[in-house]
Amino acid sequence: MIIIYNSIMYVCLCSAVTTNQIIKCVRAGCKDLDAVTKQLGVGLNCGSCIYMISDLIANTESHDLSRPTDPDDYEPNES
Ligand code: FES
Repeated sequence: MIIIYNSIMYVCLCSAVTTNQIIKCVRAGCKDLDAVTKQLGVGLNCGSCIYMISDLIANTESHDLSRPTDPDDYEPNES
């Protein structure tokens, strides 16, 4: 299953880590779950975030971080 995350959301609630933090971590060189865990401290408590983090790692290239993720930066299309 491929899930596309186009907005910021918390993935690891225990460590307060968001989708964008994980995507940026992967793009900076953390290519597997162990590397992301060591870098961001995700998945070390309850572990319920592991599946979503693994999916994010596997599909990082499909995520567009150039889109506004802060609601204050969002400008709707005028059409
Ligand atoms: S939500 Fe990530 S360890 Fe609990």
